[in-house]
Amino acid sequence: MSFPASRPRRLRRTPALRRLVAETSVQARQLVLPVFVREGAAEPTPISSMPGVVQHSRDSLRKAVAEAAALGLGGVMLFGIPTAKDARGTGAVDPDGILNVAIADCVAEVGDALPVMADLCLDEFTDHGHCGVLTASGAVDNDATLEVYAEMALAQAAAGVDLVGPSGMMDGQVGVIRQALEAAGHHDVGIMAYSAKYASAFFGPFREAVDSSLQGDRRTYQQDGGNVVEGVREALLDVEEGADLVMVKPALAYLDVVRAVREAVDVPVAAYNISGEYAMVEAAAAHGWIDRDAAILETLTSIRRAGADVILTYWAAEFAGRL
Ligand code: PBG
Repeated sequence: MSFPASRPRRLRRTPALRRLVAETSVQARQLVLPVFVREGAAEPTPISSMPGVVQHSRDSLRKAVAEAAALGLGGVMLFGIPTAKDARGTGAVDPDGILNVAIADCVAEVGDALPVMADLCLDEFTDHGHCGVLTASGAVDNDATLEVYAEMALAQAAAGVDLVGPSGMMDGQVGVIRQALEAAGHHDVGIMAYSAKYASAFFGPFREAVDSSLQGDRRTYQQDGGNVVEGVREALLDVEEGADLVMVKPALAYLDVVRAVREAVDVPVAAYNISGEYAMVEAAAAHGWIDRDAAILETLTSIRRAGADVILTYWAAEFAGRL
């Protein structure tokens, strides 16, 4: 049937009609709030490159996590900022290290009411800023790093984490972590794998958020921006190794990868709307160049439309509060 009988505008006439036929929605339960916690901090500290986001103290983190639970969010993803760093990232495996004590704080605060997730990576804890330990010549040592990741997973599990989030892009990381968790009896601790993670300029503001020491780049372990088949391969490998959810990161410049991964795997797919994506919208809105609220809704809708079941976003609490 064609014009005049077929008039697509009929279904756009009123907000109620548009709501009736909306194909995509964004709900609080699908949103995960990434949160930063700084060792020894007495007060939350603003992150200048991410207006509205802070490095929490342990106290302010507990409040933020309680609020996230009250809002019905999908979860929180924790990042720790230690006072001391070393070549092996020892703070990451120390049961008294900031990330592990913060996990325990959050679990004490919200129990089973909100999934508590934690970044499982060494970059916040190493003095060289890489996601793994280095060989004598300065390369990132894949298999030596896996041993530390296994230890880190056990420390996070002991602290009560619901899902660990390995984000270092080492080969075999999901399998090694799964085996370590099983061997220690942590059968219920799940893995949200950062599967297709690209070496991105949009991580810029995050490096300030975690006081990163990185010189150079992560191109020997994170993926090249042009590769989609490889992203699907990484996701399939992670599912095979025992990932409970897989993630694509960043989100916006990689929406086709989100779609391809969604079609390839049989587990939930998450996408991380990262720091630089957040900062772009905030900066343009601060100049009055875009409508902030509309841009946030459109951003999150586009990631859901691409196929993400779960979105990690710094707007999670604010957006859920608006719903
Ligand atoms: C690695 C990690 C990074 C982010 C999450 N986990 C940084 C990186 O790979 O350089 C970035 C998150 C963001 O930019 O919002 N631990």
